[in-house]
Amino acid sequence: MLPSSADAAALLESLRASVPSGVLLEDAADQAPFLTDHRRLYQGRALGVALPREIAEVSALLAWCNAQRIGVVPQGGNTSYCGGATPDPSGLQLVIGLRRLNRIRAIDAADFSITVEAGCTLAQVQRAAAEAGRFFPLELGSAGTCQIGGNLATNAGGLNVLRFGMARALTLGIEAVLADGRVYQRLRALHKDNTGYDLTGLLVGSEGTLGIITAATLKLWPPLRSTATAFAAVPDVAAAVALLTELQAAAGGRVNSYELLPRSALELALRHIEGVTDPLAAAHEWYVLCELSSFADEALGTVLAQALETATDAGLVQDAVLAANERQRASLWQLRENVPEAQRRAGPSLKHDVSVPVARLAGFVAAASQWVRDHVPSGTLVAYGHAGDGNLHFNISFAANTLPAALAAQEPVVRRAIHDLVAAHGGSFSAEHGIGRLKVGELERYASPVSLAMMREIKRALDPNGIMNPGKVLAIS
Ligand code: FAD
Ligand code: MLT
Ligand code: ZN
Repeated sequence: MLPSSADAAALLESLRASVPSGVLLEDAADQAPFLTDHRRLYQGRALGVALPREIAEVSALLAWCNAQRIGVVPQGGNTSYCGGATPDPSGLQLVIGLRRLNRIRAIDAADFSITVEAGCTLAQVQRAAAEAGRFFPLELGSAGTCQIGGNLATNAGGLNVLRFGMARALTLGIEAVLADGRVYQRLRALHKDNTGYDLTGLLVGSEGTLGIITAATLKLWPPLRSTATAFAAVPDVAAAVALLTELQAAAGGRVNSYELLPRSALELALRHIEGVTDPLAAAHEWYVLCELSSFADEALGTVLAQALETATDAGLVQDAVLAANERQRASLWQLRENVPEAQRRAGPSLKHDVSVPVARLAGFVAAASQWVRDHVPSGTLVAYGHAGDGNLHFNISFAANTLPAALAAQEPVVRRAIHDLVAAHGGSFSAEHGIGRLKVGELERYASPVSLAMMREIKRALDPNGIMNPGKVLAIS
């Protein structure tokens, strides 16, 4: 029988007896940050918040939850944009935070691999790699807070996907605790391993619905010895896409970042983020921030400057500035990485994390922008993001005094129109942020019946009691 709120006190007593002291956070104030999400879209309650210190404690917690039919909500840095790490309002779910599992277990510089525990922040992993003379390429604006377990659980993307791939592509092996407490142990630095189904790949991106990732072995690269970074104004999205093709040809695969920004995003950053300045003299409608990198000492600045010059002659670039030193490079990235924070400070927004094939980006932006102009006159379109991956954060900002009810009334209509246009352009309604709680209905609508059936069958096989992150990713009847 499923537990009810009448059972809460007895369940808590039983839980206390099942784990060593110090694992459970009992104080309401200590628990509070774990019960709401980064965007404050959801407010949950929980039976408890557990912060295990070792894998055996994770295993014991899951075995207890499975026996008692208690829903488990894994939580990393809690930077999810879709409510994936927030418990429901029942007060009967257990939040398991991974932050205390934060050791770098091993770095093998010769093997270009690092083994880390799930609770390490992304920045901690990047630093550990750098200290060993290696480079870990995953890069997100939330790097100081998000955890590698959360990055793998969401198959995070970010700023370097174009060259290095998403989190799954950077993962060689993982260790995870399954719903019944068993441990899947596959921390191996093997680049080739065709032994049956790709279970590691399945757990990556499963958003805590199939198990808790406790550690991972990740790929490393040599340190980047040269970079060249430019901020260029382009007349439109089609020109931005054409410029990418030119750059790829000129730089021979050394383009690691290719970000698109509209003027509206730059203005938000200028207005709300201290220290941000406009890199160019005049205002333009669209910009790209692009970066080339190399593992060798190379004159990449010359390659980039020449490519931009050729593109200027071809009418693809209106104006551009190259970072002359590390300080200027950092300030260009500060501008880009602070767009989400600037947007948050400006007021409420409707966010759409979408992707389309790169070649269809301009057509999609034209059609979806027209729809927003026609139907959302009170909103400002801020469509920015990882254009090199065909991934845009097609967000609409509203004035700070917009009433939540007014926004809530528009949200389903806007979401449907944008996501239908994405589908019509052969794209995805969830490019990199995941499904979480926010987009369960979208998955139901856009995934094929066969895909949904396969996902449900996998879920049932690995989590027959449905305790792993209930209500996230899949609607289970
Ligand atoms: P959480 O938010 O804690 O959890 C996310 C999901 O993973 C939840 O479903 C949770 O249950 C599950 N989970 C967490 N840890 C584990 C674990 N150890 N085992 C199993 N399941 C687990 N995302 C991008 O992809 N690209 C970006 O460029 C990007 N930029 C961002 C910029 C900012 C400023 C912010 C705030 C967020 C950004 N994000 C981006 C979103 C977010 O940072 C990522 O999704 C990140 O990977 C989430 O990591 P987390 O540790 O915070 O996970
Ligand atoms: C980013 O790329 O900055 C984030 O993934 C998008 C966002 O914060 O909306
Ligand atoms: Zn992003």
